[in-house]
Order: sequence, then C-alpha cells, then structure tokens
Amino acid sequence: MNSSHKHIPINLFDFEALAEAALSKSAYDYYASGSGDEITLVSNRIAFDKIELLPRVLVDVSQRNIQTTVLSTPVAAPILIAPTAFQRLAHPDGEISTARAAEKAGTIMTVSTLSNTTLEDVSSATQATLWFQLYVHKDRELTRSLIQRAETAGYKAICITVDTPLLGRRERDVRNRFGLPDHLEIANVKTHLNASEDNASALAIYATELLDQAITWKDIEWVRSITTLPVLLKGIHHPDDAVLAVKHGANGIIVSNHGARQLDTVPATIDMLPGITRAIDGQIEVLLDGGVRRGTDILKALALGASAILIGRPILWGLTVDGEQGVLRVLEMLREELDLAMALSGITSIDEVSKDLLFPTK
Ligand code: GLV
Repeated sequence: MNSSHKHIPINLFDFEALAEAALSKSAYDYYASGSGDEITLVSNRIAFDKIELLPRVLVDVSQRNIQTTVLSTPVAAPILIAPTAFQRLAHPDGEISTARAAEKAGTIMTVSTLSNTTLEDVSSATQATLWFQLYVHKDRELTRSLIQRAETAGYKAICITVDTPLLGRRERDVRNRFGLPDHLEIANVKTHLNASEDNASALAIYATELLDQAITWKDIEWVRSITTLPVLLKGIHHPDDAVLAVKHGANGIIVSNHGARQLDTVPATIDMLPGITRAIDGQIEVLLDGGVRRGTDILKALALGASAILIGRPILWGLTVDGEQGVLRVLEMLREELDLAMALSGITSIDEVSKDLLFPTK
C-alpha cells in the first residue's frame, strides 16, 4: 500500500504537523508559542472542546449557505485571516501568497504591521478585501504614515492591536534568541530584526523600544480622527473595555488574547465572548480569534454572538506546506467543516445560528 496518504493533510492539525517538520525550530517556535507557561494557549483549545452542541433533526438541509457579511463586506464564509507577522519565514512569497489565497477563498485578510512584504505590495497582489493591523508606535509620524499608506493602498479597515504595550514573554523565543534572517525585514518600517546576542527575543526588544507603552483610549480617538476607515480594536478581554470601545467610536472589536502570546492565564477567547457580547448588546460587531481549528468551533463562536472568526497560525501552517495552495486548502477545509457541522445541526444559513444550538440550552 502506498503510504504517501500519511502526508496528505485532512485537517488543520495535520497541516501543523507537516509545517513543524518543514520549518526551522526558531521559526516554528515563534509561530507556535504562547507566553509564560502557555496555559492560555492550551485553554483556547480546551474551552472549545468543552462546549457541547445540541442539534435539531428532520430539518431540510439540502440547500445551505454559509456566506455572510462582516463590517458590510460580503464574505464567502465567516472565516477571516488574522494578522500574523513575518510570513516569509513560512514561504518565500509570504504575505503575497496569503493575499492571493484570500481572494480565491472570498475572504478578508488582515495584514500585519510586522509583515515581510510592504502593505502596498500585498495590496497590489490581490483583489481581496484587506484590513491593516496597526501597532501604535511611539513615533506618531510613523504611525500616522502607516495609517495613511494603508488608506491610500485601498485597505478597508484599521485593526488596532490594543493588548501589546509590551510584548508578552515567549520563552521559546527567548531561548532561541529569535530574530529574522538577514534577507528578511519588517518591510513596512524597513527595519531588520537581527537575532540578539543575549538571551532575548529581538521582537521583544523592538516592542520595548518602539511600541507605545503609553497608549490609551485617547489614542484610539486620535486614530479615528486621522482616518475615514472603520476602526476595529483587537485584543479586548474585559466587558467594560468592550463598552469603552463603543464609547470611543470603534466600529468593531476582536475578542482575542493574541493567540495566547501576551498575558498568560487569561481566559480562553470563547469563554470571554458571552460576557462581551452581552455588554456590546449588538451595538457593534464582535469577532473572535484564538484556538479556532474546527468547523464546530466556528459554530460555537457564532452561537455565542460573534459575527465571524479569524484564524492565525493555521494560515501559517498552510503557507509553509504549500504556499498559496496550502492557505487556500486550510480555508477550504474549515469551510467544509463548518458547512457539514451546520447540516448536522439542522441549520441552513449563518443567521439561523443561535444560542439554541448550545447544550444545555440557555
Ligand atoms: C507579533 O505581532 C507577535 O505577536 O508575535
């Protein structure tokens, strides 16, 4: 028997295993790691597994539609691409391949400030809707110019990361002395990130030196005042911050713990979601990232009030394994899983997904 079937990924976990085998230890660890003891990294997954679904039967599910809209943009499925840094560590075409896959999949890509490709080159490569993930730097002229460049290049939203006044301590990166190889740079700011001599992550040093530790709500208003684009806040944990986000004019929030890479031992994102959707009460859109690996995870997030989810690491695994095709396959797999989970739940469209699907029924 041909044993090559072992190498054909049939789910997102298979993609990770293949990517781990293909990447350098330093690159894999950078992508995969969480901060501290990686408690939240584990709980982001376990929390999804603990939620049970209670399907309805004898519903005609022969016609199903998983399209929806996010911030008024139609998407083929409620599966968006989260910002992740340094995609050329995964594949020589990095962010360009991801952007092309986003277009083919009919979804939105969020491009990181810390990309290895300039935001302009990413937008030239794709017709996909792009959002720009912003790190607010101490240098406000630099920050302003990033926003203006994104606007000029046709990006459709600014997604401000609000959980990173400093970088979480990712001990794998510390041990590996994480840095970028010489041929790569933080393209948007033309900065190399050479590995440090000391036991330190060069990215943590970058964050300490250049990101703004004094960022507050007034800076959200500042960003709003200099752009006409919708503003999303990524990294909201507390329901009271969700309320403040509305008050300060955010158009949406992303319930995120930064893939468990910032404060360790914060709750799983899916566990934070109900309190936040209650606090927001439909005033703005709520999205979620962190630990989504299965179609059933997506159904659970939608049932608890998210309008869509974003995936980060699985995109990097697909990109590593097979470039644009790999990213597309990852997105398709999740789509197929969501479609099947809906069919088996007795649901035929995204707007039918409700808390009624959760056990015990609430
Ligand atoms: C980059 O933004 C990271 O969190 O590693």
